[in-house]
Amino acid sequence: MSQAQVAHSPAPQTVEMKDLVALCKRRGFIFPASDIYGGINGFWDYGPLGTELKNNIRDSWWRSMVLCPPIGHDGEPVQIVGLDSSIIQNPKAWEASGHVGGFNDPMVDCKESKKRYRADHVLVLVPKDGAGPSVAFDQDAESAEIDAKMKKVARGRPQSDYEREQLDKLPFEHFATIIGPDVKTQGTLTEPRQFNMMFHTYVGATASEDNKSYLRPETCAGIFLNFKNIVDSSRVKMPFGVAQIGKAFRNEVTPRNFIFRSREFEQMEMEWFCHEEDVSKWFDFWVEQRKAWWASVGMDLSKLHYLDVGDADRAHYSQRTIDIEYKFPFCAPDAYDELEGIAHRGNYDLSKHQEYSGQKLEYVDPARDNEKYLPHVIEPSTGLTRAVLALLSEAYTVDESRPSGAYMNFKPSIAPKKAAILPLVAKEGMPEIATKLYMELREHHAVDLDIKQNIGKRYARQDEIGTPFCMTIDGDTAGDNAVTVRERNTMTQERVSLDNVLDYLNKHIKGA
Ligand code: GAP
Repeated sequence: MSQAQVAHSPAPQTVEMKDLVALCKRRGFIFPASDIYGGINGFWDYGPLGTELKNNIRDSWWRSMVLCPPIGHDGEPVQIVGLDSSIIQNPKAWEASGHVGGFNDPMVDCKESKKRYRADHVLVLVPKDGAGPSVAFDQDAESAEIDAKMKKVARGRPQSDYEREQLDKLPFEHFATIIGPDVKTQGTLTEPRQFNMMFHTYVGATASEDNKSYLRPETCAGIFLNFKNIVDSSRVKMPFGVAQIGKAFRNEVTPRNFIFRSREFEQMEMEWFCHEEDVSKWFDFWVEQRKAWWASVGMDLSKLHYLDVGDADRAHYSQRTIDIEYKFPFCAPDAYDELEGIAHRGNYDLSKHQEYSGQKLEYVDPARDNEKYLPHVIEPSTGLTRAVLALLSEAYTVDESRPSGAYMNFKPSIAPKKAAILPLVAKEGMPEIATKLYMELREHHAVDLDIKQNIGKRYARQDEIGTPFCMTIDGDTAGDNAVTVRERNTMTQERVSLDNVLDYLNKHIKGA
């Protein structure tokens, strides 16, 4: 590693959500949607830098799947093609997929506080001696006190054998007897009710049941709907994948934790179609590939946790699921939350669409004596916006020695800006040299030109937005034709000739 190469060694995670949220707003990564009207719960806008960061993560995923897919078991790159399907589809498609009937979350209302909770996120603390009523906490409320108590009993996914044991002792009727999260008296909570999370709309001029359709709750649906079109129109042969990135919408009961659980978010999903006999080898293959991708975008793999999801917690279509989990800053000590799911969906989706549409969706496999079958599916499904939150959390590095107090340790390849061009002062010909350099570099990289303000403040801004290199034009540049390059993490400086600046950036950013 050269002196200036970014030392990308993730620092221990010390960031608190409030600091991350504040930085995101202050520097233009993420804003509440409709901010000037007080926001709208569960919706977020990506600002100038958040958009760049999200696009870089998106492009890296697309490259790893579609443009440059991994090498398969036979030593050849696997085949994956891309898709961009419509958000609104024929409503029958959502009946077939089970979303209209079953895409539900259980919710509980409090008659006194008028608050609404996800029933499976209401944690119940049972007095050990059985004396007195049990007290409930809302797992979705961001509070360290609740995090600590949550370790005792969880109604949601149990975190330990003790919790599982406790959970088994808590029948649903228990809601009527406990003290709700935001009140002091017993019996104010309603029984859990199923709440369908599909956003609906009306297609055309008439708002009637006949015209009702839905915004997709997961991007994979369009892939299954186009399976036959893709097989018929392209040269894919089993096994192969279809990848899609796009918006998904869920009317979450309790959107929480900044962009972690939003009502409008983006997913990156790939459906890998294969013969049933090959499912387990491809499942393991994709788990390994996904780990490698997370490392490639700057995730410290030691901070990830792999959960083989138990029967009770898996989606109805899934025969096996591994959740890749990350220790988000809001997680309780020793707890993780979901970043990505890798699911074996069987041939559930294709068989349902075949049944509901009446169209034959079987694949005729020339490699297996023209055997006709509905392929099985392995699906790595990542939230793009959740990846943004994980990589923002991972990058946030406290450094009291800097004026900014912290810097964003993004991998150069995903950093929103790769370099900032900064004339030391806004006179003596320096802005002109800086502008010329900027015009050259912007053809190749996302670079920033920042001419005015004290240089310390400009460095601080670049540290906070995670720009790996600052290039300063000073009083010597006109004479020696060189700039001072400051590296973000080490703050080391080296003199680089103007003629070599592009090579320098190419070398330090590629693969980094
Ligand atoms: N097609 C499978 C599927 O959608 P999922 O576990 O419901 O499975 C996959 O979602 C990923 O999408 C999650 O691991 C998460 O990263 C992201 N995701 C799901 N719901 C989300 C939400 N409300 N806000 C942000 N990201 C979400």
